[in-house]
Amino acid sequence: MPKVIQATNLHRIYETEASYTYALRGVSLAVEKGEFLCIMGPSGSGKSTLMNILGCLDKPTHGSYKLEGLEISNLCDDDLAEIRATRLGFVFQSFNLLPRTTVMRNVMLPLIYSSISPREREIRAWKALHAVGLPEKYYDHKSNELSGGQVQRVAIARALVNNPAIILADEPTGNLDSNTGTMVLETFHTMREQGKTIVLITHDPEVAQWADRTVHIRDGKLLTDIQEQHFVANHNLREVHNT
Ligand SMILES: Nc1ncnc2c1ncn2[C@@H]1O[C@H](COP(=O)(O)OP(=O)(O)OP(=O)(O)O)[C@@H](O)[C@H]1O
Ligand SMILES: [Mg+2]
Repeated sequence: MPKVIQATNLHRIYETEASYTYALRGVSLAVEKGEFLCIMGPSGSGKSTLMNILGCLDKPTHGSYKLEGLEISNLCDDDLAEIRATRLGFVFQSFNLLPRTTVMRNVMLPLIYSSISPREREIRAWKALHAVGLPEKYYDHKSNELSGGQVQRVAIARALVNNPAIILADEPTGNLDSNTGTMVLETFHTMREQGKTIVLITHDPEVAQWADRTVHIRDGKLLTDIQEQHFVANHNLREVHNT
């Protein structure tokens, strides 16, 4: 299988006036196309640091990061922005929706700098919202008039609207009750079935059960590669869990 993500010996040192923080100390990670990978680890272990690099929001201090075969570590900011806009979809714990703006407009936001016509933007937003299963009556609602689970589905729709190959999610269910969290995870699962590659950060072992594979990070290093609960095994596990 082609590797969508190929990170080799990533180091990230944060330098402040007072000190150095070694947030990543030689992380190597490969993710296949269509894989659903979970990254788990305690607070401060380097998860978001790793995700920022994978998401082309930050560069490693040392090491190589290839995204779809392209070496990212040497690219300029404009090139990184282009890759983020066209190849990646982001879902964060704090959803970053514009509060007094409608659901449709929030979802169309990533297309604002593209050459796509306004009509086509609406169609794409509508399709993305449909894909995450948000009922149509909410499309004109303002995002601060929705429940937590609905907001999170809008956030996932926004991450999907540019049809990214890779979805990166940092604690996407962290603020949700377990039923709503399950709804959101089902949405990720559907995306994965449609061939998207998903990398998801979580503290929660139950969330990790949805993934094809989980890697654990401690003090900036990957520990284990608890391979390879394949999706079928996961699925069976969930069936048992749900009955
Ligand atoms: N911009 C920054 N400047 C300096 N140090 C930072 C910066 N961002 C993160 N760190 C430090 O790097 C280490 C890893 O942080 P990171 O945010 O990656 O952890 P995390 O695993 O995502 O934690 P959490 O589960 O709490 O979100 C921590 O010690 C943190 O204090
Ligand atoms: Mg974090």
